Amino acid sequence: MKIIMLGAPGAGKGTHAKHITQKYSIPAISTGDIFRENIKAGTELGKKAKGYMDAGKLVPDELVCDLVVDRINQDDCKNGYILDGFPRTIPQAEALTDALKKQDDAIDFAIEVKVPDDVIIERMSGRRVCKGCGATYHIKNVPPKKEGICDECGGEIILRDDDAPETVKKRLEVYHEQTAPLIEYYDKLGVLKAIDGTQSLEKCAEDIDKILG
Ligand code: AP5
Ligand code: MG
Repeated sequence: MKIIMLGAPGAGKGTHAKHITQKYSIPAISTGDIFRENIKAGTELGKKAKGYMDAGKLVPDELVCDLVVDRINQDDCKNGYILDGFPRTIPQAEALTDALKKQDDAIDFAIEVKVPDDVIIERMSGRRVCKGCGATYHIKNVPPKKEGICDECGGEIILRDDDAPETVKKRLEVYHEQTAPLIEYYDKLGVLKAIDGTQSLEKCAEDIDKILG
């Protein structure tokens, strides 16, 4: 099963991708996480990506497409995968469609997580991430068991660099301009599904399970 998670920054793509991974045993591939790992490790890719990310802009397509195509050709992706945060532009979507077509393959579902901008802004101010493993929390909705400490690895929980309110505003603008057109793109391919991402996490997971069958 090959799945794309579509939706604005903070819509819950990463949160729901984790549910799908656990339930269907397929890897979740988040380009944002890949860039953050590269920034932490001080790689060339990380150095190139950081400026764009901190400004709330997209990293250029040429730094993203080959990376994802290589990743989905790895062994653990044989039974499928979830793409979280990719594609984000029409050229990225076309690169993915073409790469899959060469293998006589295609995306099965593009799941749009619908959340209005005002809810996004409220959510992002409460999001916290683990400095160690990147696990995501929310101070009100999804708090860690022990304040400030990651449930999964015991790491310190912090505000993500690009979650400052003015950067969130920029990321939303970029989403509406460059990423939202993908909804129509995947609708035309006949694989678009949508869930209401303002519901409880349990209800969102239930709706996703209904889509995936
Ligand atoms: P990326 O890491 O992908 O960030 P994003 O798209 O902005 O999305 P987020 O991770 O912020 O949100 P999410 O939808 O995963 O929500 P989450 O589950 O955390 O990208 C970061 C940057 O990297 C980009 O700005 C860009 O610069 C670059 N980049 C990445 N991919 C790229 C690409 N392909 N091309 C170019 N550049 C790229 O949930 C948010 C919060 O809400 C959490 O606290 C969660 O606990 C809570 N929450 C979620 N759902 C619910 C719910 N139903 N009820 C209550 N709380 C909820
Ligand atoms: Mg995410």
